[in-house]
Amino acid sequence: MDILKLNAISPLADKILEGYNLTDESASPAGILVRSANMAEYAVPSSLLAVARAGAGVNNIPHADYAKQGIVVFNTPGANANAVKEMVICELMLAARNLVEGIVWARSLKGDDVAKQVEKGKKQFVGHEILGKTLCVLGLGAIGRKVAVAANALGMEVVGYDPYLSQAAKAEIPFVTVFDNADAACAAADFVTLHMPATDETRGMINAASLAAMKDGVVIINAARGELVVVDDVKAALASGKVHKYVADFPTAEVNDCDGIIAVPHLGASTEEAEDNCAVMAANELKDYIENGNVVNSVNLPNLKVETKCAHRVTVIAKEGTVLGVEGVSATAKGYTYTIIDSDAPVDVAALNADGIIRVREIR
Ligand code: MLT
Repeated sequence: MDILKLNAISPLADKILEGYNLTDESASPAGILVRSANMAEYAVPSSLLAVARAGAGVNNIPHADYAKQGIVVFNTPGANANAVKEMVICELMLAARNLVEGIVWARSLKGDDVAKQVEKGKKQFVGHEILGKTLCVLGLGAIGRKVAVAANALGMEVVGYDPYLSQAAKAEIPFVTVFDNADAACAAADFVTLHMPATDETRGMINAASLAAMKDGVVIINAARGELVVVDDVKAALASGKVHKYVADFPTAEVNDCDGIIAVPHLGASTEEAEDNCAVMAANELKDYIENGNVVNSVNLPNLKVETKCAHRVTVIAKEGTVLGVEGVSATAKGYTYTIIDSDAPVDVAALNADGIIRVREIR
């Protein structure tokens, strides 16, 4: 079976997928490993069972369309969370202490009296400490919670907003004041950090109106997705002094072309550790799905993992509400039902009611 790699993925994935043909080119892959390659125009072959993204965001994969075709899309939640957390903490300091401008200025100094020029000119870069300041974390998933914990440990007040925050996740961060809307959460914040995916709900959420509701001199940090921010509105807010700095992990021509924006070349998850973690998680997800039909960390179809030693296993992806007429273990989510049928005798696939069924696999 071919596993197509659309990006460079840590070699740890090759070890897990030993026995498969890991390749950069295949017309009939069973699985795809992808990082940032845009799959919007990818011509999906009928062989494709699953796509695993080595990362959290899945906006480069048309996952809703793939669900309609019975193709599972996985991500790797939490696998790069520490890397992103460390970068965000670094960016807080970069912005608060005007370090980027200071470094660029220091490098520009020439002559025998550089030390003297430094002492004379450094006052232009006087910054602020983060101790006692308020950080607003928008999106309290695996990354947002880690950022909140680290900021709290550095002496910051932490507030946040996340419409999907579970009670269990909230219990991990009891020191965070959680608001029920983003504007209220941001209102008192000196720093706002974004940790939400790019969806119809979140695209453009940082805009003229939301910025107007923030404190003067706020710093915005975006290690989530560029689309969350209306760059022209941030530029206007930088020009007026409403925003002190915008730190973005997503440079574009319009982002680069502005003083006050610190553009980082999408480095949030770029550590060897995070790349290894993501590759291992993604490869395990693909392998367990291809070999056992188990679905763990799917973003577009129901998650379901069943451990049995039965000789035969058939899996069925169907529209929600489909009655298969055969007993199995099912999970329903996002308008689909996924069923695993385990049996000691061969499963009579022909006996399944065809109406609503998208994909049937005889795994063993
Ligand atoms: C993510 O979505 O987790 C990151 O964008 C991963 C990456 O840098 O590839």
